[in-house]
Amino acid sequence: MDPELRPPDWWKSAVVYQVYPRSFQDSDGDGVGDIPGITSRLDYLAELGVDVLWLSPVYASPMDDNGYDISDYRDVDPLFGSLADLDRLTAQAHARGIRLVMDLVVNHTSDEHPWFAESRDPQSAKRDWYWWRPARGGAEPGSPGAEPTNWESAFSGSAWEYDGRSGEYYLHVFSRKQPDLNWENPEVRRAVYDMMRWWVDRGVDGFRMDVINLISKDPGLPDGVVPPGHGLAPAFDSVANGSRLHEFLQEMNREVGLDKAALLTVGEMPGSTLALAREVTDPSRGELSMVFTFEHVNLDRQPGGDKWALADLPLPVLKGNLATWQRGLAETGWNSLYWDNHDQPRAVSRFGDDSAEHRVASAKTLGTVLHLHKGTPYVYQGEELGMTNMPCADISQYRDIEALNHYRDAVGRGVRPEAVLASLAVRARDHARTPMQWDASEHAGFTSGEPWLPVNPNTSEVNAKAAVDDPGSVFHHYRRLVELRHRLPVVVEGRFELLLPDDEQVWAFTRTLDEEVLLVLANCSSQPAAVAAGVPEVMGAEVLLGTHDPDGAPDVPGDALVLRPWESRVYRLPPG
Ligand code: GLC
Repeated sequence: MDPELRPPDWWKSAVVYQVYPRSFQDSDGDGVGDIPGITSRLDYLAELGVDVLWLSPVYASPMDDNGYDISDYRDVDPLFGSLADLDRLTAQAHARGIRLVMDLVVNHTSDEHPWFAESRDPQSAKRDWYWWRPARGGAEPGSPGAEPTNWESAFSGSAWEYDGRSGEYYLHVFSRKQPDLNWENPEVRRAVYDMMRWWVDRGVDGFRMDVINLISKDPGLPDGVVPPGHGLAPAFDSVANGSRLHEFLQEMNREVGLDKAALLTVGEMPGSTLALAREVTDPSRGELSMVFTFEHVNLDRQPGGDKWALADLPLPVLKGNLATWQRGLAETGWNSLYWDNHDQPRAVSRFGDDSAEHRVASAKTLGTVLHLHKGTPYVYQGEELGMTNMPCADISQYRDIEALNHYRDAVGRGVRPEAVLASLAVRARDHARTPMQWDASEHAGFTSGEPWLPVNPNTSEVNAKAAVDDPGSVFHHYRRLVELRHRLPVVVEGRFELLLPDDEQVWAFTRTLDEEVLLVLANCSSQPAAVAAGVPEVMGAEVLLGTHDPDGAPDVPGDALVLRPWESRVYRLPPG
């Protein structure tokens, strides 16, 4: 669509669908998904009704981190196809009214990017494009503990890699093949903006910005605080949310013309606070449309622990967190809403109940709750089918660099392998990356070859073909949620109010726009739940969407409304 014709905040009524290209659809039998494969599935996305397709990276890459390590920002990796394939995908998506958002990974490049190759030479004009530093004072370069700071990479081990040729270290907050760009250098910023303009001119409709709150780093590079039981301090804590972040984002917006072209921009911001998110998404400041917070997906870990230190998550904590963000961005800014993405375990296994009995209802209810909040919902491929974590008993079943490095590191520190495997089985990123389950055939209709990561054996029941054919499936529930958002302005703009905040089973809230009031009641447990006093009367209210057959409601003594396990209902209350 001509950018001139779209309203500046069109993304407020949109639903975004994220595709992880490697695992979506293979077209050439090499076992890895590709762009022609995605194009061949656009009708499926159109049927679901989503407005935007966010593509995880398809750029040229050595694939150390599955494409989040880019060696050429202006080309497509042959594994995924060609630029011509991508242009075709864009055109075909646009023809169906679906916009395309590219992943933008500019906190770091691949170490195989020509910029970094040049930067390895201390005399090169690009030396300062990355964070090169000598060994810490007095230490022998390359010796244990001589790294410039005590930072640990997000993928285990030191965040510094020693380069013997120049006797210095470079910073990599992620893998050693992902050196961090130095945004203090204006030439770096210009090169990034140039590249972004090139993509805008090619017709993309927005950017999902990878760890964008890490781009401004304190050039002093101060040591971090080492948590108990660890040898190093998480680099994240020292490099996130730096003092020039707003300045860089505003400059980017201006230079690339992000607002002018009415692009959707969403910043991935681990460790960002609500206050920061409000500033970044305040439209008057000209930064981003919305951000991905990590607060709600970090609640099920032990206090102060890392992502592998698992803890139970009581419902009041989860809904309280979302409600805080709803209130915090009610007047200024905008929320993104997500349970799942390529870095998170499957929502139905994590927040729902993936047993045969409750998988479908809990997947639907998680969808209901999320999509009825205020903000832009994101659906991660397979979430609309209720895809689950994969069963995994052995480290050889994992492919992700984060999981493999963590296993090596933790076992090396003396943690029992079974304990490490137990947390991987719950929290590893591979769970999100198993191939999309299209049908019940051997490789799920994903590939005619050998899939790069095994297909979840439950594809015999959990697959798109079965779901599209079944009006009671998770797929059709998601389709109805998308449709509701498109049809009712109250879903987009309505004021949010949380009810029964301390209830351990029921997630209840209202959305209000002028005279229109929606009430959402969701039993987020595998037992029946009586709805406590404190919600509006539902007698005479219209049920816009429900997970269960209204006729099968259990009989209970007294007046209490009882919801079946994982039952949810969206009511429109009578005016008055
Ligand atoms: C983001 C991506 C993740 C990647 C990391 C480094 O968190 O979502 O997949 O590993 O950044 O680029």
